[in-house]
Amino acid sequence: MTSQIIPVEPFDLIMFGATGDLAERKLLPSLYRRQTAGQYSEPTRIIGASRSRMTTDEFRETARRSINEYVRKEEIDGDDVERFLARLHYVPVDAKSGEGFTELKEAIGDSHAIRVFYLAVGPELFGAIADQVQAQGLVCRNARIVVEKPIGRDLASARALNDLIGKDFSEQQVFRIDHYLGKETVQNLMALRFANALYEPLWNSAHIDHVQITVAETVGLEGRAGYYDKAGALRDMVQNHMLQLLCLVAMEPPAWMDADAVRDEKLKVLRSLKPIDAHDAPKLTVRGQYRAGASANGPVKSYAEELGTGDSRTETFVAIKAEITNWRWAGVPFYLRTGKRLAQRVSEIVIAFKEIPHNIFGGSAGRVVANQLVIRLQPDEGVKQWIMIKDPGPGGMRLRHVPLDMSFAQSFAVRNPDAYERLIMDVVRGNQTLFMRRDEVEAAWRWIDPILAAWEESRQDAQGYTAGTWGPSASIALIERDGRTWHESG
Ligand code: BG6
Repeated sequence: MTSQIIPVEPFDLIMFGATGDLAERKLLPSLYRRQTAGQYSEPTRIIGASRSRMTTDEFRETARRSINEYVRKEEIDGDDVERFLARLHYVPVDAKSGEGFTELKEAIGDSHAIRVFYLAVGPELFGAIADQVQAQGLVCRNARIVVEKPIGRDLASARALNDLIGKDFSEQQVFRIDHYLGKETVQNLMALRFANALYEPLWNSAHIDHVQITVAETVGLEGRAGYYDKAGALRDMVQNHMLQLLCLVAMEPPAWMDADAVRDEKLKVLRSLKPIDAHDAPKLTVRGQYRAGASANGPVKSYAEELGTGDSRTETFVAIKAEITNWRWAGVPFYLRTGKRLAQRVSEIVIAFKEIPHNIFGGSAGRVVANQLVIRLQPDEGVKQWIMIKDPGPGGMRLRHVPLDMSFAQSFAVRNPDAYERLIMDVVRGNQTLFMRRDEVEAAWRWIDPILAAWEESRQDAQGYTAGTWGPSASIALIERDGRTWHESG
């Protein structure tokens, strides 16, 4: 089965931070794959811009290396790579001093193509870059700006950043990336909910017991100590990815699959989250930090050792019991957990339905387990609907808990595009549905800030957990206190 490719209009993508990690690992490989898929119209150009002094030829060689390293061999075609490299140009710029921006303007020339400024740089440069491109008269009607998280480290700094960008670009031109929204299964969650009559009538507190959202990673710091140690798991994962997933599970059906209709509904969810204050934080949140342990590849250092600077109070694990105070969800806990150096890399959403009201089968048939819908984001994307059936064959009525299993890789035999491929093409199309609006980002921080403040006030260290396990025991206690257990991924 092949997927349908609709070409996008010609565009100039100006990539700030073009020699950085994100460009190398994600942006250049994704842009290459979209070309191979036949999605570009001509003339389409990619203009790298960063502080490194390099020529266009040198930049093209960097891009070649990144394709060779991050694109699977069977997707690489020699002629296609050359065609891709020919699209690339490079201009050294310094956002702070403004050096190089006149040259950048010359490189763009009088092109009328869609203009994308992609800021793959730290947030401290967002304002300066936006101002420089504005001052050069480059912010035309067709221009868009893409920013990556972290968008602030609390509500006040997020507002300040949004103001800086907002001076030069209108909200319709701003694309705040949360790459989780570009993941195939995350979109499937919307299809599952709103393209089927089956689930929506049950999607509420009358039928759902609780929801679990797990984003577990096996990796540690991955060379990002400088950023991560200042952020921690709550800012790095919960404020954005986890809350976005929660929104998609909990939102009301939007009237249309239209950017503002969807984002209005997500915003309502964020605004309905019950605040967690200093009094509730010890009961409803868990902070953890990994100690030395083991992974499938051998022994693993503790966070502090990996950091190399001795002690740190930063959390590498968070579990939270969240509540949404509205009619649909009152009384349904949303258990969130995320962490580094956990037992398994798995991201999934579990919708745990209520138990049947009355069991007609009696004890000999075995236990009737409540239905669960498990939406697996990665790895092995797919959806499993766990149901009870009769054990086949003679031997009386015995019940069995089995999954109706839909593994997307097996069923559709198509390569799932990287989230960035879809998101960059959406930027070019000007479709903001999968991007966070300013008020959403700020509403998420409004819920996160009191948790940060409560942790700060308590001065308690993060609870240790052994690398390669499922996090601190307090996370298990958080859910088991309520008579529930974390879903075991298999
Ligand atoms: C990023 C975080 O946003 O998401 C990282 O900053 C994290 O710390 C990453 O590792 C996880 O993304 P994915 O797509 O690998 O699940």
